[in-house]
Amino acid sequence: MTDLLEPRAMGRDLVRRDGVQKVRGTATYAYETPVESPAFCHPVQATVARGRITGIDTEAAEALDGVLAVLTSENAERLASTDDAELAVLQSPDVAFRGQVVGVVVAETSELARQGADLVVVTYAEQEHDSALTVDHPGLYAPEKVNPSYDTDVVQGDVDAELAASAVVVSHTYATAMVHNNPLEPHASTALWDGSSLTLWDSTQGVHPDRKAVCTVFGLEEEQVRVVCPYVGGGFGSKGTPHANVVLVTMAARALPGRPVKLALTRQQMFSLAGYRTPTIQRMQLGADRDGRIRALTLDVVEQTSRIKEFAEQTGVPARMMYTANARRTTHRLAALDVPVPSWFRAPGECPGMFGPEVAMDELAHELGIDPIELRVRNDPERDPETGQPWSSRHLVECLREGAERFGWAGRDPRPGVRREGRWLVGTGVASSVYPTMRQAQSTADVRFEDGRYVVEIGAADLGTGAWTVLPQIAADALGVDVDDVEVRIGDTRYPIASVAGGSSGTNTWGSAIAVAAREFRGKFGTDPRDGDEASGQVDQADTDDEHATYAFGAQFVEARVDVDTGEVRVPRLLGVFACGRILNPRTARSQFIGGMTMGLSMALHENSVWDPRIGQVANHDLAEYHVTVNADVGDVQAHWLDEEDPYVNVMGAKGIGEIGIVGTAAAVSNAVWHATGVRVRELPVTLDRLL
Ligand code: MOS
Repeated sequence: MTDLLEPRAMGRDLVRRDGVQKVRGTATYAYETPVESPAFCHPVQATVARGRITGIDTEAAEALDGVLAVLTSENAERLASTDDAELAVLQSPDVAFRGQVVGVVVAETSELARQGADLVVVTYAEQEHDSALTVDHPGLYAPEKVNPSYDTDVVQGDVDAELAASAVVVSHTYATAMVHNNPLEPHASTALWDGSSLTLWDSTQGVHPDRKAVCTVFGLEEEQVRVVCPYVGGGFGSKGTPHANVVLVTMAARALPGRPVKLALTRQQMFSLAGYRTPTIQRMQLGADRDGRIRALTLDVVEQTSRIKEFAEQTGVPARMMYTANARRTTHRLAALDVPVPSWFRAPGECPGMFGPEVAMDELAHELGIDPIELRVRNDPERDPETGQPWSSRHLVECLREGAERFGWAGRDPRPGVRREGRWLVGTGVASSVYPTMRQAQSTADVRFEDGRYVVEIGAADLGTGAWTVLPQIAADALGVDVDDVEVRIGDTRYPIASVAGGSSGTNTWGSAIAVAAREFRGKFGTDPRDGDEASGQVDQADTDDEHATYAFGAQFVEARVDVDTGEVRVPRLLGVFACGRILNPRTARSQFIGGMTMGLSMALHENSVWDPRIGQVANHDLAEYHVTVNADVGDVQAHWLDEEDPYVNVMGAKGIGEIGIVGTAAAVSNAVWHATGVRVRELPVTLDRLL
């Protein structure tokens, strides 16, 4: 239990400190960094899904006026570490997936670089490839752990006996699509190697983790590398770990010492190089008594990774803690395919892992004739079912109840397919949300008194999430001063080390470090500091509470309308109620929630990377054909929250909110579509062909 900070600045509806620069276009993104006479890169990508390069002809590209360098596996520098196969760029003639980087052209303009890349002729000895995930793929294996270090399989109790004793068993297979992150700002960098040190302006979710990876790959000391990233035009996990583009631009810069080099992936290149979410297949069983008490819950997940590097999405993990069950089994099996490397994508694990279970809960509720909210209430566990630990706070039931009230759930007719307004079949659905509250390994903050103001420095990242604005609110309350007297500087490895903006852990981790630094500062200098007074504060994992299960919860409600003839789905209303500890800034928090819910709607209705297993590539690899939810698809989206203070998570009493908004939305949409039509869609996205 911690002494919570007294909230004075925290909780206030302050406008974004970076808002004006962003709106005016004066916020400088990585690719726009003003540098003298930059050169530009364009990657050359493999055109086979598996094979070996037998020849690379760069003559025509090199002959092009304005081309400065052409790097391939034949002439690129040897990297110090090739342990991370995704980052072992241009180190071998082997091709592991279509779209893999096999070369780069550096030229005076981006157009010339692109033209040069087109002129590079690569020949291959092509090999048979295998890129199609199936539920019974012969290569399925159990990874050692799932992301980041959860148990692969967890079995509790006698599942078979509990299933046999169940009055009702719901048993179905659910599936979520392969999906690709498409932040407005693509993966982009400007790099300058001056002969002995590197400056990398990179669009990243963490300057320090980015630097660490670059140092490892190139064998550099941390003092030799500075990573700068004040603004990010969206990341969603895809910029949480560096991808091949970061190595490539650094390599190009090192080939041209003294010359700044720029690389921005094209939208199509992002579909091969920037990570993605694996498709998931979820075999699910729920066995229950007549009164709705769950006896058995099983979730067996099948998903893919790449042959060269494992990423095991932890899809089965939320089912381990969400509801009561006498017996439970969750497993993960992977197929390692000749495909690009999957990675973090918008609430990895929790997001896809709450689709199957939350639709299955709806199916069970229908079978039992119990209201879907009531079914969840009856199975709300008093303690974490997996660990037996008490919750630091769990207000799922309150979220469901308040959501029901606000949404107008009372008196809902449970029968599917019976409400019609003109051309539209109308239905409503609900699902739960959850996201763990995590703190990362290590972060440090400095507090300094400078020209009558408090300056806080920490290498944190603002992905559009609000860190520029919220960290000063935390610092002000930790110092006990007015928020206007605090300046926070982030996004540069020159500031103290900070953890990645991932796992909804940024504010929790950095804010805790800032609070420690503020306490240090006050202890050393009192309340009347002098210019130049400075203190430092650090958090590490050892400070975190390990006696409680710490999660944020939520409930999402959806109204869906389905055209009776065409099957077109519309969602005029999305309403979420969340319990995420103290809300530090209602303005930025609301944006986090409704942004996540909108992405959840996008997952439900639109996003689908259509894989062509014959050639091993995403067929719809651009924003013309990869559909995302846009303004015209969004109706009334409301995010509400409970007043919740959690004394076990951190001194702010705040839980992470970056990802919970996307968790559960797709299940709520599918459940509402079923209520509207009577058609149960167990595979995302819910497109009209699946309804007719
Ligand atoms: Mo989030 S996908 O953990 O950056």
